[in-house]
Amino acid sequence: MKILFVCLGNICRSPMAECICRKIIAERQLDIEVDSAGIIGYHQGEQSDRRMRQAAFERGYHLSHASRPVKYSDFENFDLIIGMDDSNIDALREKAPTSDALQKIKPMASFFSTTIEIDHVPDPYYGGTQGFNYVIDLLEDACENLVNQLSISSI
Ligand code: 4NP
Repeated sequence: MKILFVCLGNICRSPMAECICRKIIAERQLDIEVDSAGIIGYHQGEQSDRRMRQAAFERGYHLSHASRPVKYSDFENFDLIIGMDDSNIDALREKAPTSDALQKIKPMASFFSTTIEIDHVPDPYYGGTQGFNYVIDLLEDACENLVNQLSISSI
């Protein structure tokens, strides 16, 4: 199973999702691969946003991903392609080369617990520290549910 997390710039939300999922997968010794990418290539090669890295560090995570844009082969190489908000999902649907690829695209919010009252992972880029912490809260919840679902379906 290979999962690709996608946001706009690949420097805040999707590398954080990748990192959280990677930690859960390692703890449970599961055979799941994760990566992340951005809709835009503007930050290509850059490490994650300093504010995201700081918030991650304070919660026990180390962000080491270098930003890259989504590429054509991602739609073949990954089994699940998970977008953080509706705009990411729309952009992914436009890029999907086949109907098979379209089926792989899912919103991150579809893995939120029912107690969560928002339907996307909000872009923290233009906001303050609180937004980055909230992104981690949402992603920890979604990643836990996502990995649980995948573990159950592979039994
Ligand atoms: P991300 O956040 O999509 O969560 O990585 C953003 C990063 C960069 C920009 C926007 C959002 N930007 O406009 O450069």
